[in-house]
Amino acid sequence: METSRAAAAQADAIKMFSYGVFTKLEGAVTAGMIHLGDRLGLYTFLAQNSNVTSKEIADGCGLHERWVREWAYNQAAAHLLTSHTSADGEVLFGLSDEAVAVLATPEHPAYGMGMFHRLPQTMRSLDDMPTAFRTGLGLDYDSHGPEGAVGIERSFEPWNQAFLLPVVVPAVEGLHERLSEGASVVDIGCGAGGAAMLLAQTFPKSNFVGYDISQFALERARERQSERSLSNISFVDPRTSPIVQDGSVDFVMTFDCIHDMTHPQQMMQTIRRALRDDGVWLLVDIKALDGLDQNMAKNPMASLMYGISILSCMSSAMSSSDGAGLGTLGLSAARAQEMAESAGFTRFRQLDIDHSVNAFYEVRP
Ligand SMILES: C[S@@+](CC[C@H](N)C(=O)[O-])C[C@H]1O[C@@H](n2cnc3c(N)ncnc32)[C@H](O)[C@@H]1O
Repeated sequence: METSRAAAAQADAIKMFSYGVFTKLEGAVTAGMIHLGDRLGLYTFLAQNSNVTSKEIADGCGLHERWVREWAYNQAAAHLLTSHTSADGEVLFGLSDEAVAVLATPEHPAYGMGMFHRLPQTMRSLDDMPTAFRTGLGLDYDSHGPEGAVGIERSFEPWNQAFLLPVVVPAVEGLHERLSEGASVVDIGCGAGGAAMLLAQTFPKSNFVGYDISQFALERARERQSERSLSNISFVDPRTSPIVQDGSVDFVMTFDCIHDMTHPQQMMQTIRRALRDDGVWLLVDIKALDGLDQNMAKNPMASLMYGISILSCMSSAMSSSDGAGLGTLGLSAARAQEMAESAGFTRFRQLDIDHSVNAFYEVRP
C-alpha cells in the first residue's frame, strides 16, 4: 500500500518535499553549531574583531584552527557570519551589527543564546520521549540538569532586564506606588530569580518570595542572591514551603510557567487565595492562539514551539500522571481568562506590551 502511494508521487513534488525535510535538518545541525559558537566564545571574539581569518579566530579563542575553519564555513553558509575572500586569497569572517546584538550581547533585549545554551539538554530528552509517548508521563525542568536552568535564565533575562522596570511595572495600574511603599510579592515559577531580584533591588521596602520546584533553578537563584547581598528576598520550593494562603500578598507574578505546570487550574486558585482582595496578578505567558489552525496561520514559529513543547513545556506539564499538559501553545488569552475566572478572578486585562513571544495580563480578584 505505502509502496504504491510512494510510487505515485511526482518526482518534482518529492524533490520539493525532501528539500523541506532536509531544511529542518540543516536548521537543527546549524543550531548545534550556534550552541558551540556561544559556548566556545567564538561570537564574543568575532563581536570584538572584524574581518579575521580562521587562524586569528582560533588563536584568539585558544582553539584548533582546522575545527574553527569548518565551523566558520558552516556559519557563513548559513548567513550568520559575513565572509569575503581578500586579494591574497584569505577568507575573512565577521559579524554584522545585528548579529552582534543577537549572538554576542547578553545585555541586549534581542540576545538569543539562552535557547541554544540548553540545546544539548533539550535534544538529549529525545532519548526519554519514546517512553513518555507510551506511558504519557513527562519530565520536569530538573531533567535538563543545572545547565538547563542556566539556559532558561539566559533566555528570559535579557528582555526582563531591559523592559521590566521601564515598561512592565508602569503598565500594571498602581503597581509602582505599591512596590515603592512596601509590598508583599510572590514570584511563582521564578526560575533562577532574575525578575524577582531586579524588583527586590529596585524596591527595597518590598518583600519577595520566589517559588520554584526546580532544585537547580533554586540553587542558582540563591547563589545569585548571595552575590547581590539581597535580604528582602528568599527562594523556596512550594512543596516544602507552601505558598501563603491567607490573602496577604499584594502582587503575584508568573513568568512563562503556568503552561508548564501539571496543575495550572489549582495554581490559579492558590494564587487567588494568596492575594489580598485588592491585590494583582501579573500573568505572563506565551502568545498562544486558540487551536492549531490559528497558531499555524499567525505564528511563524509554531512548529518550533510545538516541538519545544514536547521536549520541555508539555513534558513538564505532563510530569505527573494527572498533569493538565497545556504545553507551550496551550494557554491562549481566552483560555487563561476562562481559567482565571473559574479560580475566582473577576478582572482580566491584556496589557499593551510588545514582546516577540509573550503576552502580558493584569488579573485581579
Ligand atoms: C520556562 S521556566 C520560567 C522560569 C522563570 N519564570 C523565567 O522567566 O526565567 C518555567 C519554570 O516553572 C517552574 N515550575 C513548573 N511547575 C511549577 C510549579 N508547580 N510550581 C512552581 N514552579 C513550577 C519550572 O521548574 C521552571 O523553572
